[in-house]
Amino acid sequence: MILAIDQGTTGSTAILFDEDARPLGRGYREIKQHYPRPGWVEHDPRELVESALHAARDALRAAGVEGRQLRAIGITNQRETVVAWDVRSGEPLAPAIVWQDRRTADRCQELREHGREPFLRERTGLLLDPYFSATKIQWLLLNEPAVAEAGPRARFGTVDSWLCFQLCGRHATDASNASRTLLFDLAALAFDEDLCALFEVPRSALPEVLPSAAVYGETEVFGGRVPVAGIAGDQQAALFGQACLASGELKNTYGTGSFVLENVGERLPPPAHGLVTTIAWLLDDRPTYALEASIFVTGAAVQWLRDGLGLIADAAETEALAASLPDNEGVYFVPALTGLGSPHWDPHARGTIVGLTRGTGRAHLARAALEAIAYQSADAVATMRARTGLEPQFLRADGGATVNRFLMQFQADVLGIPVAVPEVNETTALGAALLAGVGAGLWSSEDVRDRWRERVRYEPRISDTEREYLLEGWRRALQATRAASS
Ligand code: G3P
Repeated sequence: MILAIDQGTTGSTAILFDEDARPLGRGYREIKQHYPRPGWVEHDPRELVESALHAARDALRAAGVEGRQLRAIGITNQRETVVAWDVRSGEPLAPAIVWQDRRTADRCQELREHGREPFLRERTGLLLDPYFSATKIQWLLLNEPAVAEAGPRARFGTVDSWLCFQLCGRHATDASNASRTLLFDLAALAFDEDLCALFEVPRSALPEVLPSAAVYGETEVFGGRVPVAGIAGDQQAALFGQACLASGELKNTYGTGSFVLENVGERLPPPAHGLVTTIAWLLDDRPTYALEASIFVTGAAVQWLRDGLGLIADAAETEALAASLPDNEGVYFVPALTGLGSPHWDPHARGTIVGLTRGTGRAHLARAALEAIAYQSADAVATMRARTGLEPQFLRADGGATVNRFLMQFQADVLGIPVAVPEVNETTALGAALLAGVGAGLWSSEDVRDRWRERVRYEPRISDTEREYLLEGWRRALQATRAASS
């Protein structure tokens, strides 16, 4: 049995899988979000570890399995989020700065004005956006006294690296996570001295980079000695779990944000406008690259309706609310709550709702939030199509929101191609388990394809004219958002 730990933005999930990659038990713990100032988003690093361990123990308990029966552990994680800790005490030195945090927008702007973006784009595949880790690490070094005081004892890492250090005592990361930092050379497959100098990050404070399927070390926290044998960023793990192993295959994961990734093979492609290039996984020193459209707020928009506005008690209510209306009645919600990612990359954009009338109610807002998830994903797929020239036959969908039938049908409608949802919709955890299985020598990466099983397929049901009408309304709402933030 393999245990996958998925430390995500809103919570930690753990799933225990058997040798056929079928889930046996699951655990979940929500984590607290901290918003100390507008645009700032933080997590408590200790809570990240504790929630992951609690979720893992819950999963083992649910399946009636002892920790010592585990063959391997796979870790997958919210990416880009940065943790700083003291290597001697193992204690965090500051709150984790979450990927959604915009505090370094000005620093990014400054570097852009100094003409650094083309070089960064070429070397890292990324853009100058506060989303990525480097400016967050630089901010910690300059602004957190505990980090400065720790001096050479300070270590930095993304969440995988922090968990790996806590579980195995080794300061390591995998190449897919490293490729999200703005410090990693995509061709040389290593942290880069020039980039470290640009962001004033000491190379010695960064983790060693290992393949995505490899033994990182052993942990005794669950009883017995169990190897951590696979690590990947959550979106790359989902791409693996969706068996997108060949060039041209793509998936969309519906979580806090949504991330469309397309496998583009083993050769590093040139930068693609509006998209980022990333390491999908590194297996036996052979990289697979992916193009990615990163959409920052999708599920988080529904969460905001629930927690920010109190319009709904549970995300699941949105399905019936949205379906209670014959159409959106002209109400559009652009959920730029943490700026806009692909293809716009505008860290200053703010959310906008357009088309309100006296008759607008919570059903309209719920519907607009779900529609926005689908429109943003359709824009992502369209950008991907335009850059690669490839016409996808269907979209593989995964993540919590795939249970929302309204959303999945609407997604197929606005895409104009079918949407396929697999049996295991927690594909991120599945991907981490599969990588750990490969790392522990249980499976080959080819076995992964046999473990992908489709559960349901949504076919597009609207006409081209109707689709164009809806997308035109969305484009106008986007223009209003951009105009309001400029
Ligand atoms: O890049 C951010 C991404 O990894 C977050 O994913 O599922 O925690 O929203 P999720």
